[in-house]
Amino acid sequence: MHPDVQEILISEDRIAAKVKELGERISEDYRGKDVLMVGILKGAVVFMADLIRHVNVPLAIDFMAVSSYGKSSESSGVVQILKDLDQSIEGRHVIVVEDIVDSGLTLRYMLDNLSTRKPASLKICTLLDKPSRRKADVTPDYNGFVIPDRFVVGYGLDYAENYRNLRDIAVLRPEVYSKG
Ligand code: IMP
Ligand code: MG
Repeated sequence: MHPDVQEILISEDRIAAKVKELGERISEDYRGKDVLMVGILKGAVVFMADLIRHVNVPLAIDFMAVSSYGKSSESSGVVQILKDLDQSIEGRHVIVVEDIVDSGLTLRYMLDNLSTRKPASLKICTLLDKPSRRKADVTPDYNGFVIPDRFVVGYGLDYAENYRNLRDIAVLRPEVYSKG
């Protein structure tokens, strides 16, 4: 275990089983359709890389990078697009892939923005959901795990850009945060 980790919340094995299950559900739900998966950088990268290998309908991927203004620990809902999609989504079946839905403010903005581009359908797939923190009206269509209100890292999720490479989803020791 990484020395900064206090507790493993979701093990690598449980993540892998859940990602496979989500991929299989998406494959069934989109049978006969082409899918465009839009990953939100950078947190969704690890999840999306594993997820797409369990989806067996025709699939393309694209990415968006966004930053929300305001304090770093809480999103403000005012979102700046740092990197937009490379392709048009008009008439396409889009699934937005997120690492975690927390307040939901970032995703609400993204969904409002993407829906103006006239996709054939628009759904959300997130690995983690923290519904207790929700401020915006966002309900994931596909969700891996509902988690309590704790800050987690690993499997793509970061604290100050670190720990994205951890294989499990974990809670850090409190000392890590006070180091600054
Ligand atoms: P929201 O707009 O509050 O839903 O913000 C969602 C974004 O905040 C996620 O895509 C993550 O980048 C980040 N985030 C929220 N909770 C956590 C967490 O527990 N660990 C790491 N990042 C988090
Ligand atoms: Mg993120």
